[in-house]
Amino acid sequence: MFNFLGFNEGVPIVVTGAGSGIGEAIALTAAKLGLRVSAWDLVEAAAKRTADAIAAAGGEARAIGVDAANRSAVVEAWRQTTEAFGPVGCLAAAAGPPSFSGREFMDGVTTAIDCVRLPTEVWLEQPDAGSRAAVYLSSVQGPRYGAGVPWYTVAKSAVDAYMRSLAGMRPGGIRANAILPDWIYTPRTEQYVNATGGLAWEANPMGRIGVAQDVASAALFLLSPAAQYLNGLSLEVDGGSKLRSLAWLRMHDASGSGPKSAR
Ligand SMILES: NC(=O)c1ccc[n+]([C@@H]2O[C@H](COP(=O)([O-])OP(=O)(O)OC[C@H]3O[C@@H](n4cnc5c(N)ncnc54)[C@H](O)[C@@H]3O)[C@@H](O)[C@H]2O)c1
Repeated sequence: MFNFLGFNEGVPIVVTGAGSGIGEAIALTAAKLGLRVSAWDLVEAAAKRTADAIAAAGGEARAIGVDAANRSAVVEAWRQTTEAFGPVGCLAAAAGPPSFSGREFMDGVTTAIDCVRLPTEVWLEQPDAGSRAAVYLSSVQGPRYGAGVPWYTVAKSAVDAYMRSLAGMRPGGIRANAILPDWIYTPRTEQYVNATGGLAWEANPMGRIGVAQDVASAALFLLSPAAQYLNGLSLEVDGGSKLRSLAWLRMHDASGSGPKSAR
């Protein structure tokens, strides 16, 4: 069968934040596609759960407990990864602090950017796999929303800008792209989403909230050889949420012309 994405069997990938939500879905999807996964997470037990799930499904994974925002921990994680898998050509950087973690402004911004910068910088010190593709988890909160938690908006814009600097300069030949999700239902957001009913997707043209697999599918495509000419993209995985506002929806509902069938 035609292998559209074009990954060679067994190519290694590092996934940060692989113990939960989007990172977990990226790790599981990568393994289904035949990649060998180095599953990094701050919570080692969570990384191990993901690695065990991959192994139980017949894949290959290694769990590493690591703070992606700590350089010496990242150096050690890369050492273990390279020792186990050899040169790595794919990096999916999903780890980052939650917006509602009550951080001071600069702490939030610095931690979020270090979570993508340090794994990348130390990656560039590793043996060359022949090609490098990276995908970074930003958010529509970066370019789109001015409200909410200021440090998170700034941090996610910075992650996107960091990606663009890599895509433009291409250190180590990196091909870099970012994914900007709108609301995605994950362990991080489920409590808030449940508490606010359908608010997170009421105006979304797709009529539902995003799920981690929506992001994972986009991430694996961007990392794959099929996307070899895609570089510097900020891909919004949002179901088209920017195309409608709640006010727009209410007005159309009130006039009887709302696209209720699409919800
Ligand atoms: N869920 C959403 O609605 C949404 C929307 C836009 C962007 N994002 C971004 O997607 C990414 C994943 O979000 P999620 O909803 O899957 O979150 P999640 O909390 O479900 O999972 C995040 C994982 O990252 C790990 N992690 C956090 N800090 C880390 C660090 N310093 N080092 C290593 N691992 C660390 C956590 O332990 C956790 O297992 C985040 O960067 C988030 O900002 C999420």
